[in-house]
Amino acid sequence: MKLSGHFMKMKQNNEKIVMLTAYDFPTAKLAEQSDVDMILVGDSLGMVVLGYESTIPVTVDDMIHHSKAVKRGARDTFVVTDMPFMSYHLSLDETLKNAARIIQEGQADAVKVEGADDVIEKIKALTKAGVPVVAHLGLTPQSVGVLGGYKVQGKDAEAAEKLLDDAKKCEEAGAIALVLECVPHQVSEMITRTLNIPTIGIGAGAETDGQVLVFHDVVNYGVDRVPKFVKQFGDANGLIFTALSQYVKEVKHKEFPEDKHSFSMKEEEVSALYG
Ligand code: KIV
Ligand code: NA
Repeated sequence: MKLSGHFMKMKQNNEKIVMLTAYDFPTAKLAEQSDVDMILVGDSLGMVVLGYESTIPVTVDDMIHHSKAVKRGARDTFVVTDMPFMSYHLSLDETLKNAARIIQEGQADAVKVEGADDVIEKIKALTKAGVPVVAHLGLTPQSVGVLGGYKVQGKDAEAAEKLLDDAKKCEEAGAIALVLECVPHQVSEMITRTLNIPTIGIGAGAETDGQVLVFHDVVNYGVDRVPKFVKQFGDANGLIFTALSQYVKEVKHKEFPEDKHSFSMKEEEVSALYG
């Protein structure tokens, strides 16, 4: 399996890093077969697979459950697992314990945390303890209540400078990579040029060292509306709906199952059965 140094090299060689979210065994297997460089077990699973309104209700146990399934499907891929809401804020002690569970039980190769400010000391402590950390700046969905909505961040010069400053602090604290979500491409370009660690963008333009998207958005599976920064590369909704409608129709019309789908017993056994 590739380690974080590999991704640093990819940045130096100007080779794009492809990250994709996955939350279960079959998707992880497909991601690995498709040569995705890194899998993110994102807390977006709260919305896309558990049906919550936001990522806030997601627990450490949820993350471990999904992370284990993903690792079973993608043994050879670098897996980053989100630390969920409030699991890295209460104290350094709690933060280390939760991260240790995600790494040991969840089998993640790294954890991801959102924000700078008070989170910088958490990145430092985790790194010191041997836990690789991916930082996440810009739109940080766990703070949606404070940010006041899912909006582009760092749009004016002052906010952009704070983002650049935070990004540097994340790198200094030991982060192995930085996710930039929903920031103007000029800002992510500046951050990408300034940092030595790779930047991975989502809604952050083409200049970041890598891109990340949510699996369900990429294949249009179970999503009604996608943000501007998403490109849908397939149509799982259409595929699945067609198959399911056909299944329902064929059962109702007594077309399925056919003989070839059925098991049979020998004639004499049938006679014995009817006596
Ligand atoms: O949870 C998630 O899917 C994420 C990505 C959008 C970066 O954090
Ligand atoms: Na997330």
